[in-house]
Formats: sequence, structure tokens, C-alpha cells
Amino acid sequence: MNTTKSFIRGTGAYLPQRVLSNDDLAQMVDTSDQWIRDRTGIQQRHIAAEGELTSDLAVASAKEALKNSGLVPADVDLIVLATTTPDQTFPATATAVQSKLGITGGAAFDVQAVCSGFLFALATADSMLRQGLFSTALVIGAETFTRILDWSDRSTCVLFGDGSGAAVLQAAPGAENEGVIAHHIRTDGAKSDLLYVDGGVSSTGTIGHVRMQGNQVFRHAVTNISSAIETVLEQTGYTIADVDWFVPHQANQRILSGVAKRLGLDDEKVVSTVSHHGNTSAASIPLALHTAISDGRIKKGDLVLSEAMGGGFSWGASLFRL
Ligand code: ACO
Repeated sequence: MNTTKSFIRGTGAYLPQRVLSNDDLAQMVDTSDQWIRDRTGIQQRHIAAEGELTSDLAVASAKEALKNSGLVPADVDLIVLATTTPDQTFPATATAVQSKLGITGGAAFDVQAVCSGFLFALATADSMLRQGLFSTALVIGAETFTRILDWSDRSTCVLFGDGSGAAVLQAAPGAENEGVIAHHIRTDGAKSDLLYVDGGVSSTGTIGHVRMQGNQVFRHAVTNISSAIETVLEQTGYTIADVDWFVPHQANQRILSGVAKRLGLDDEKVVSTVSHHGNTSAASIPLALHTAISDGRIKKGDLVLSEAMGGGFSWGASLFRL
């Protein structure tokens, strides 16, 4: 039976021009290309130019997603932007994107779930479209994450980069196994001291820098992500063998591979772009999704499983058909 579902019509991505290699970082802190590659799989990251804002990155990816959808900004009546690094404390960066795209109607707002942000934004937009509140959404993950890094802390500064990815989501009649199929999103505030920023508007009045107990995060990441995926599969009746493509949050090659191995996923089904841009937080899933759609790996009708884990802790999984 057909009901109102949401469908991904097109995707886009944007990476800033400046590239910082592992060798460049080795000039700044006591690290090496070998250490970074072995522990994370990261080879390089992109850094936003001075004056280049999170909204600028978001607009670039949104324009490409609209073009690939065959739609124009005037078709959009909802923008849900996932970011941890907004242009300003307020208004929401999504409203800057709305204005820069020349969209005058509908609603635009940000969601904050750090590295899990894109999946939280996707779940939010999908629910609103299915309820009939809006018809066409831009779901964006965009970050200038390098602006909250402590460049003297080698345990964090080597991991992250800037970037943006976007998907156009549109409401239309569809069957249960079409379009966006299921989500499972969770948080656990008791673990916030393992990954956080040591600043904020109401605490210190400063922006602050990322602080992380990497090995603890790693341990929780594999467990939480695997459990979210198992929940989504149980809810929908699919098995891991039904999944055509696995598009995980691009934090670290060892987490990606650890989750894939635990689930029994073939390596060929795993989309990994982390080597090219490091951990771009909320931008990483749409960046990876767009890469695999653009290069022809993910095709219309394919079943895609996505997952993420980040500060909060926040984590989740989504299942959708292109
Ligand atoms: N270069 C060289 N040595 C380093 C570096 C570096 N950049 N960073 C840390 N080290 C050293 C440490 O000081 C330590 O040295 P010691 O043994 O003399 O004390 C040694 O390397 C081992 O440190 P660990 O933190 O135990 O290293 P680990 O194997 O856990 O790798 C890493 C660290 C890569 C951060 C890993 O824990 C990780 O990937 N964790 C997940 C973190 C993550 O992805 N966070 C992103 C946000 S959440 C998410 O997106 C899932």
C-alpha cells in the first residue's frame, strides 16, 4: 500500500580548496604520516579559507544537490542543516543558506548532534515530509570543524577537516520498501566528558576547542553503531545481506572496518572516503554518499545503510533506498 514517503532526489558535496597533508601536520605537531595513516586511514584534510563560512560550504553542496535533482531553490520549503560549527551563535546557519539560495518561503533550522548530525537531520526532515508539513527539503551537513581544533593537540588536530554534503529529500507516494525506510537515533549525555568542546556561550563565553579521550570513543563507537544497525535491520525485517551499500560516518578507517567486520559486511560494499578529507563531522555521510553516487557505484534502487556516532554521545543508523 502506498503512503507518503520521502525520497532522495539528488546529492551534492563541497570541499574547500586548501589541502593540509599529514606531512604538513608533522611540521606543526609531533606526529608522522605513517602514524596518522596506520591509526586512522586519513591522508589529507581540507581547510576552509579565511572568510569562508559554514553557510558558504553548505550553499555549494546544496546547489549541486538541487542541480542533480532537476529542482530549483524555489521548490525547497524546508532546510535542515546539521552543524556543530555555525556561522554565528544565532540565527541558525540554515537561515543564512536559505537567504543565500534566494529562498523566501518555508522554514530553515539547524540540528546539533555533532558527527551524527546528518542522520538526525535526515530523520527530522523525513518525519516532517511524511507528516505533510513540507514537500521538498534540503538536508545538509556542513562544518568548518578545523576552527574548533587545538592545533597544538596532536591527538585531535590530525583527525578532522572541513566540508559539506547535501541531499534533496522530496515527499511522494511510495511503498514501505521505497525511499527513506527507517531510522534509529539515540544519545547518552552521561558520556559527554569523553568528547566535547571546552567552551560555549553560557559556560565560558568562548568558542573552545575539541577535547577527546580517543580510545574510549573508539570502544563505544563500534558497540553503539553496531547496536543501532541491528535495531534498524530488526525493525524492517532486512538482513545485512540485503544491503547493497554501507555508507558510514567517515571518522576513522579502523572504526569503519571494525563495524563492517562485526556485521559481516563485504569490504566491497563499504564506501570509504575518510582518506581524502578526514572526519568532517556532520558533513561526512553526505560527502561519502555523493561520492559513491557520482562515481556510479550507488545506483537507483540500491538499498543503503548508513551509521554515525559522535559527541553527546549521539549515534544512529538509517536505511534508505535510492
Ligand atoms: N601522532 C603520534 N602519536 C600520537 C598522536 C599523533 N597524532 N596522537 C596520539 N599519539 C600517541 C599518544 O600520545 C599515545 O602515546 P603514549 O603511548 O606514549 O602515551 C599513543 O599515540 C597511543 O595513543 P592512543 O590514544 O591510545 O591511540 P589510539 O590507538 O587509541 O589511536 C585515535 C588514537 C586515532 C584517536 C583512536 O583512539 C580513534 O580513532 N578514536 C576514535 C576517535 C574519533 O574518531 N573521534 C571522532 C569523533 S567521534 C566519531 O566520529 C566516531
